[in-house]
Amino acid sequence: MVNLKDIRREFPLLERFIYLDNAATTLTPLRAIRAIEDLFINFSSNYGRSAHKLSRETTERYEEVRDRVASFFNASPEQIIFVRNTTEAVNLVAHFIPHGHIITTVLEHNSNLLPFYSRERTLIRPRGFELNPEDIEKEIREDTSLISITHASNVFGNLQPIEKICEIASSYGIPVLVDAAQTAGHVEINLKKIKCDFMAISAHKGLLAPQGVGILFVRNPEEYPPLFLGGGVVEEVKEDSFTLVDPPQRFEAGTPNIPGVIALGASLSLLEEIGVRNIERHLRELTKRCFNRLSEIENMSICSSERSHSIVSFNIEGLHSHDVSILLDEFHSICTRSGKHCAHLAMKHFKLEGCVRASFALYNTLDEIEKLAEAIESISKGG
Ligand code: ALA
Repeated sequence: MVNLKDIRREFPLLERFIYLDNAATTLTPLRAIRAIEDLFINFSSNYGRSAHKLSRETTERYEEVRDRVASFFNASPEQIIFVRNTTEAVNLVAHFIPHGHIITTVLEHNSNLLPFYSRERTLIRPRGFELNPEDIEKEIREDTSLISITHASNVFGNLQPIEKICEIASSYGIPVLVDAAQTAGHVEINLKKIKCDFMAISAHKGLLAPQGVGILFVRNPEEYPPLFLGGGVVEEVKEDSFTLVDPPQRFEAGTPNIPGVIALGASLSLLEEIGVRNIERHLRELTKRCFNRLSEIENMSICSSERSHSIVSFNIEGLHSHDVSILLDEFHSICTRSGKHCAHLAMKHFKLEGCVRASFALYNTLDEIEKLAEAIESISKGG
C-alpha cells in the first residue's frame, strides 16, 4: 500500500482539520485539482462537438475516464452514464421504470425514497442494522417493478447483502437499483458479481472527485429511454421525429461536466495505486477503533453498530447533536455532520431525533480517531 503520509500530502486541508465528514463529501486530491488546471490550460474545449484538435483531445480524455470507471467496477463503458450525482441517477431510474410496485427500505437516503413517492411502495425494515433478503422476497408481488436498496446507509454504514438480494430478484425477473453513494471507492464493487440492473454513485465521496459528477451504471442501457433530450444525443433530426445515438451518449444531453469527469480520472488513479482492498481494510480498522474508543466514554450513546463500515454515529447524552458538532469544530477543528442526515425514515426507525456522524476516508489515521475520542471526552465533561 502507498504510504499514508504520501497519501495525506495529496490533501492539504488535512494539515488544518481533522476531516471526518467524508460521507457528505471527501476532500479532493491535488492530482485531481491539477488535472482540472491542465484541462483548462492545455486542451479545454467541448466534448464530441467540433472537429478541431482541442475538441478531439477533450473527447478522447473524457472517454478514457469512462473506460477507467468501467474497468474500476468491472463493467463495460457503454454501461457507464455520467450524471450529476446519486440523486440524479436515482431519478433517472424512476424515469426508466415509471410503473409498478417498488420494494425499498427504511434505511434509504431521501434521494432513494422521494423519487418513488408517487408509487405504491413496501418499506422493508432491517433486523438490527441489516436487511434480511427473505424479508424482501416475501414482499415481491406480481406487479413489483423494482427493488431499490442502499448498499450502506449514510448514517449507520452496515454493508447490506446486495448480492443475495440481486440473486433473489433476478429469479423473479425484477430489476434492482443499488444506491452505492457510500460504498463506491470504500469497498470493492465488481459488477460482474453483483448482478444489479442499476447502480447509483456519487463521485465526490469514496471516489474522491469534485462535486457535480455522478455515475449511473445501467446493465442493459439500450432498453431505456433518455430523460433529457438535446444536443449530443441524436443522430438524425427531422421535422417530426429524431433518432438517438447509441448508449451511453444518448443519456448525456447537453455539454457535460468535463472538468469534473477529467478530475475523476485523476482521483481514480490514486485509488488504483492504493488498491480498494487496502482502503477497505484501513477503513475497517478506523471504524473498529472509533467504535471501541467511543464505547469507553461515559454519557455516550453510539447509534451505529460495531459492523458499520467507515461510519460511527453517536450522541452525547443531554446535548443536541448540532451543538456537539459545532463544539468539535470550534474547539478541536474536527469536521463531522449532525442532524438527520437526509435519512428521515431511518432516524424514525431507530427512534433518533438526530446524531453526530463521524465518517472516514482512506486518508484518516488512528491518531485522528484518538483526537476525536479525546475531544468528545472533554465535551461530555462540559469542557
Ligand atoms: N448524502 C450526504 C450525507 O450523507 C450529503 O451527508
